[in-house]
Amino acid sequence: MTTDRIALCGLGQMGLPVARRLATAHDVLAYDISEGRRALAEARERVTTTDRLADLAACDRIVLCLPNPAVSRSVLGDLAASIGRGTLVVETSTVLPHDVRECAELLAPAGARVLDAAILSGVGQMDSGAATLLVGGSAADIDAVRSVLDALGGAGWSRLGDLGAGMAAKVVNNGVAHAVMVVLAEAFAMARAEGIDLADVAAVLERPDGGLLRPLTHRVMERVARGDYEGGMPLEAARKDSTLALAMAQRSGTPLFATQAAQSVYDLALAAGLGRADYAAVARCGRAGAARR
Ligand SMILES: NC(=O)c1ccc[n+]([C@@H]2O[C@H](COP(=O)([O-])OP(=O)(O)OC[C@H]3O[C@@H](n4cnc5c(N)ncnc54)[C@H](O)[C@@H]3O)[C@@H](O)[C@H]2O)c1
Repeated sequence: MTTDRIALCGLGQMGLPVARRLATAHDVLAYDISEGRRALAEARERVTTTDRLADLAACDRIVLCLPNPAVSRSVLGDLAASIGRGTLVVETSTVLPHDVRECAELLAPAGARVLDAAILSGVGQMDSGAATLLVGGSAADIDAVRSVLDALGGAGWSRLGDLGAGMAAKVVNNGVAHAVMVVLAEAFAMARAEGIDLADVAAVLERPDGGLLRPLTHRVMERVARGDYEGGMPLEAARKDSTLALAMAQRSGTPLFATQAAQSVYDLALAAGLGRADYAAVARCGRAGAARR
C-alpha cells in the first residue's frame, strides 16, 4: 500500500530542517533511532513520527538524511524486503557516488530506485528555505520527485548527470572549500605579519581579477576547459611570484603548508617544459605526456 506522504529517515541537525521543508509541501512520516529527535520532529506541523523503520515502506518516496554511507546502506537493506515497486529513494546524506550506486543495486531487485540530492548548503539555509541541491539520477526519476526537490532546494537545484553526479559535485565542492580554507588561512597569516588590514586583503581577493575568483573564471573556465595555454601569464613568472610569497612568509616566520605544496606543482610544470605556457598549464602537470601536448 502506498500513501501520498513523504517518508524521511534521519532527524539530526540537518534532518529536522529537512522535515520542516518537506512539510511545506507534503505530509511527512519520519523515523530516527533517537526518541529525542523524533519528539522534536513530532512538534512540527504535518510531521508524524514512527518508532518503526519498516513503516516508511508505506510511502513511495523516501528521503534519507543519515550520518554516513554505512547507515544509509543498512537502512535500505532493512527496507528492501517491504518497499513497494516503483518507490523512489532520495539520498540527501553526503556520501560517495559509489555509495548511491551501491544502494541502487541493493534496491533494484525490489523494483525501487535511488537518486542523489546532495545538500550544498548548511542547516540555517535549509531551515529558511534557501538551500541548494546538487542532483544526480535519471531525468524521469528526478521528474517524479520534483515536488520534494522544490521543497528542499528553495534556492534552486540542478541535475548534474546520472546517479551519483550530485554527490560527486558536492564532494568536489567540499574538497575545494577545505583546501581553499587552508590557503586562505595562510594568506591572512602572511598579511597580518606584514601589518595589512584583513578587510583590505579580502577586498583584493574577492575582486573579479583577484586571486580567488580569477583562477576559476579565467584560468579554468576559459583556458583549461578549452585547452588554451597560449599567451597570458607565463608559468615561470607565476612561479617567481609564488617564490616571493614563500620568501615573504619565511622572513616573517609565517609557516606555510598548502601554499608551499602548491609551489612544488609549479616546479614540476617548469621541469616538464611548461615555463612559457600560461600558468593554467599546471592543470596538465602530472598527466602522461603533458609537456608534449
Ligand atoms: N549538518 C549540515 O550542515 C549538513 C550539510 C550538508 C549535508 N549534510 C549531510 O546530511 C547528513 C545528516 O547530517 P546531520 O547534520 O543531520 O547529522 P546528525 O549526526 O546530526 O544526524 C544524524 C541522525 O541520524 C540518526 N540515525 C543514526 N542512525 C540511524 C538509523 N540507523 N536509522 C535512523 N536514524 C539514524 C541519528 O540519531 C541522528 O539524529 C549527513 O550525511 C551530512 O553529511 C549535513
